[in-house]
Amino acid sequence: MSGSTTGTLFTVTTWGESHGPGLGCVIDGCPAGLKLSEEDIQPWMDRRKPGGSPAATARKEADTIKILSGVFEGITTGTPIALMLENTDQHSKDYGDIAECFRPGHADFCFDRKFGIRDYRGGGRSSGRETAARVAAGAVAYKLLREFGMDICAYTKALGNIAIPDVSALSPDELRAAMVNPVGMPDSESAKKALALLEGAKAAMDSLGGAAHCHITGVPAGLGQPVFDKLDALLGKALFSIGAVKAVEIGEGIRASALRGSENNDECHMENGRPVFESNHAGGILGGISNGNDIELDVYFKPTPSIAQPQSTIDKNGNDRTIEIKGRHDPVIVPRALVVIEAMCALTLADALLINTASRLDSLKAVYSQNV
Ligand SMILES: Cc1cc2nc3c(=O)[nH]c(=O)nc-3n(C[C@H](O)[C@H](O)[C@H](O)COP(=O)(O)O)c2cc1C
Repeated sequence: MSGSTTGTLFTVTTWGESHGPGLGCVIDGCPAGLKLSEEDIQPWMDRRKPGGSPAATARKEADTIKILSGVFEGITTGTPIALMLENTDQHSKDYGDIAECFRPGHADFCFDRKFGIRDYRGGGRSSGRETAARVAAGAVAYKLLREFGMDICAYTKALGNIAIPDVSALSPDELRAAMVNPVGMPDSESAKKALALLEGAKAAMDSLGGAAHCHITGVPAGLGQPVFDKLDALLGKALFSIGAVKAVEIGEGIRASALRGSENNDECHMENGRPVFESNHAGGILGGISNGNDIELDVYFKPTPSIAQPQSTIDKNGNDRTIEIKGRHDPVIVPRALVVIEAMCALTLADALLINTASRLDSLKAVYSQNV
């Protein structure tokens, strides 16, 4: 299956299926000299795990990450970093019914038409479990970005019709402290309402959609390329590669189309010799290049396709069927996808950071003058 590799200099290839023996990734292009251990990656894996949350599937995976290569005595060596985790809690028999039938809203029909064969157990490569490998890679990219003072925090901004109030003044650390609840909303009142809505949807054998916001701080100006590899295009591609993502907005996004230029432009002035933007409607990116402001983006998810209600569908042989989906499914995807959003943003920014070192003669000279 092609299309399992992303990135230009900081590249990641993921492998593995939901119900195979394990999953993993190979990162190639991570600079040598980065301190890295399993302890840096494991907290990311733990955040992605369902872990008994009422907002997640009942599947219980240890998701213990192993570094197989590319790190010597706790430091990256500049060689490929292979990461892997085992699948230990598969219930493949739960998926017997979908071996023949296609789940409405899922990828089964398209996989069958494309490949003529599919690993139906848990959705194979189209399973949310595939994101575990990206999260592992994203943890490494994030460690690299932290060396340059960047930080990334994604939170749930809406579940169904429950939306949180404005929290744009909060820093990533403040957001992380405020979103310790099963739905990842940095507002406890909204979180309670969202949980009640979710319990109602679960009782009706249904699922919910929602939206996440991602706040990225400390981004230097200059990341992204001016034409095909605009930073917003790269972030959009990275985020649209997450299952169930149906829209991505940068900054004001769709709302900008209803504003006037005088309302949407971010005016700026100098303060202590540095440019300061008075607003951030652009979400930190202009002309496809970061402007030094925080990057702000919204990611919208559809409701989880696998629901237990009887639904009409067809089978492989073209017969009309009724399907009642068994198996353990997330009743809403957003809370579990927050760490996946952070991982995909980290991978995109790490790659853009490395590429940017080659964009100017003076920066190249600075690099080589230090190395001789
Ligand atoms: C973290 C995560 C968890 C997911 N969990 C489930 C799940 O439990 N059940 C399900 O049917 N879909 C789940 N999905 C969504 C499917 O992967 C996705 O809807 C499917 O691949 C079809 O792709 P599309 O929705 O982008 O068209 C999950 C997605 C993510 C990112």
